[in-house]
Amino acid sequence: LANTVALTPPMGWNTWNSFGCNPSEALIESSADRIVSSGMKAAGYQYVTVDDCWMSPDRDANGNLQADPAKFPHGMKAVADYVHTLGLKFGIYEVPTDRTCAQRNNVLPLGKNGLGTGSLGHEQQDATTFAAWGVDLLKYDWCSADGDLAYQQQQFSLMRDALAATGRPIVYSINPNSFHADKTGATFDWSGIANMWRTTEDITTSWNTGHTNSYAMGISNILNINGTATIADQSGPGHWNDPDMLEVGNGGLSADEQRSHLAMWALMSAPLMAGNKLASATPADFALLSNPDVIAVDQDPQGAGGRLINDTNGLQTWSKRLGDGSLAVVLLNQSSATATVSTTTGRLGLPSTASYALKDLWTGQSGTITTDLSASLAPHASAMYRITPTGPAATPAPPADGTYELA
Ligand code: DGJ
Repeated sequence: LANTVALTPPMGWNTWNSFGCNPSEALIESSADRIVSSGMKAAGYQYVTVDDCWMSPDRDANGNLQADPAKFPHGMKAVADYVHTLGLKFGIYEVPTDRTCAQRNNVLPLGKNGLGTGSLGHEQQDATTFAAWGVDLLKYDWCSADGDLAYQQQQFSLMRDALAATGRPIVYSINPNSFHADKTGATFDWSGIANMWRTTEDITTSWNTGHTNSYAMGISNILNINGTATIADQSGPGHWNDPDMLEVGNGGLSADEQRSHLAMWALMSAPLMAGNKLASATPADFALLSNPDVIAVDQDPQGAGGRLINDTNGLQTWSKRLGDGSLAVVLLNQSSATATVSTTTGRLGLPSTASYALKDLWTGQSGTITTDLSASLAPHASAMYRITPTGPAATPAPPADGTYELA
């Protein structure tokens, strides 16, 4: 979406993955403080977003949204103002339907009049409220079985236009999937409508859950539906595929799996929305989330999507073109045994006539590469590299397996 924002994948933190339906003013403000003191802000994390369950189930007499007075005693503008004083940005949550996801799931009550608090029929009024509060990002979550893809496009476009009419630059983050019966929204190219759109159902903090595209997907299931050329080609400045928020630091994943999770999100140019408990996060969590070389891959200004270029029994090679002519490569062991994952410059589309500098983004070690690149990897571990041409410029040739287009 050409609305001047999200020129690189938005980075930030969101309440949902760790706090579900219990956000509060104290939580948001202390988390924002921690984003600054931990170094996450300096690493690029910016949007502090309150997900579902921030609002009172009742609109006011004029139909305006209002904060839950117990959770947000000073209202939402006060929280936005606080976040802004730290040099961060503030995000909020709503839905295009009649009731929020938590109301649909009976976690949050309906209003006294028996109605939900969704933005349906209140699009411009709510967009105006958000702009007045100083909102910088709206997460707009379908969370309903209602309607087909054409209806979703219409309703998501209504809020796009309502946000634009406020004149405030607001990142527009949509989720067409949750609880929607047909998953056509997951592969649809929403780049004319939103800045970022979910390509999957909800993430859960596990590598394998058995779910393919239904509620609570493990990391590997999300990866399995995100490596295609169709999805990768939708990626670019202002419009990003969103494989959902990060589960780094939330348990359920080994150290290797957490590294692979972050590596792959960076390779896919995914928005990086941390979802951990910042008050109890460890130095290792902060170090992983803030790895500058990995974040540089995510935030590459060209914004190319990453794609799977080879999968041999779960031994995978993924790559992404970077704006300076480098290639980011992840070797990922999705199998259940330790194995050597390997590729060649030919398969990566790199001409054998040129020479290359290689940086291992986890160890920080630099080296060179001639033709072969390989790593011995434990199950679900990955190696991540940045490969930069150092020799005479040469036109890259297509790779042997023909799946990686370098255009
Ligand atoms: C479904 C979304 O996918 C989640 O990220 C979260 O926003 C919940 N809805 C909130 O109810």
